[in-house]
Amino acid sequence: MTSKNNNSVIFTTQLASDVNALLQGVSSEQLFILTDTQTQQHCLPLLQSEGMLQHAKIYTMPAGDHYKTIETVVDIWKFLGENGGTRHSVLINLGGGVVTDLGGFIANTFKRGIRFINVPTTLLSMVDAAVGGKTGINFNGLKNEVGVINPAETVVICSDFLRSLDTHNLLSGYAEMLKHGLLSSRQEMKRLSSFDATKPDYALLASLIETSVQIKANIVEQDPTEKGIRKALNLGHTIGHAFESYSHATNRPILHGYAVAWGLIGELFLSHKVQGFPQDVLLQTVRFIKDNYGVFDITCNDYPALYEYMAHDKKNAIAGQVNFTLLKDVGNIVPNCIVEKELIFQALDFYRDSVGL
Ligand code: GLY
Repeated sequence: MTSKNNNSVIFTTQLASDVNALLQGVSSEQLFILTDTQTQQHCLPLLQSEGMLQHAKIYTMPAGDHYKTIETVVDIWKFLGENGGTRHSVLINLGGGVVTDLGGFIANTFKRGIRFINVPTTLLSMVDAAVGGKTGINFNGLKNEVGVINPAETVVICSDFLRSLDTHNLLSGYAEMLKHGLLSSRQEMKRLSSFDATKPDYALLASLIETSVQIKANIVEQDPTEKGIRKALNLGHTIGHAFESYSHATNRPILHGYAVAWGLIGELFLSHKVQGFPQDVLLQTVRFIKDNYGVFDITCNDYPALYEYMAHDKKNAIAGQVNFTLLKDVGNIVPNCIVEKELIFQALDFYRDSVGL
């Protein structure tokens, strides 16, 4: 089964035949696949099961965010150049967010830009990283410091890959879907709350992914370069990124989506306090997050360090003023809300109370 929405995203259960169909007129010498050591083993055989994809030239990078660097980019630019890459080449990025971010950046810069197709293999990359055109690398100790916004020609989503994903990585991607639900409708939030990640109903998940990608794609279409409404996609991420960075700095790393889920608790509290976001949805969402994501252990002694991360977030327009996207209600988005330190600390108190710390 294949379906295509109007944002060049294809949802398929016939991955190889659908990607081959996108490559008509491309010679196999011009076809490149970027993958990593994990996806090479688990996902590449499905992509290469038929057609000209079997003859593509493959570059396998080491797996992990640690390799999302300019050194990896240089090595792949060289690989393309030394293996006959031209401005007519096509790069297929097969992997999670690191591969689609880095591969998109390479495709957007090699020969001043070549065609590229994203084939995301994790839930996080299907519903977020692979869609919307943000590409780039980490640089100088900062995440996604250098990059380009220019979307893949097509994103091909095959949810079969999710059957081999562990529960933690499933939940990590699911947090971005919760965010999209909050930006959309109560009906979508109800559907999302019915999913049990410990016994996944993959048919339900595939349908939830389709809606989730549509919600993101609609926002990106209105504001591809994040001047306005696209900031809505940062919901949960100001506090979430602080948790994530702090978890790495204190040697107890958490997955991105877990950080976002816990960030959503704090930012929905702020939405309630500042914008009157309804308490019933706040409490339902908090319950779902607590039941599924557990806790990231913090005490009030950690607040100043967490606040410093928020104050240095690159999304802040004025240095030192912490900028949030908040909600008046589900689907009613208020970007650019400056929130004072005292209220942010109250949001962290609320997070701790909610998760039982
Ligand atoms: N990950 C948020 C965005 O694509 O804008």
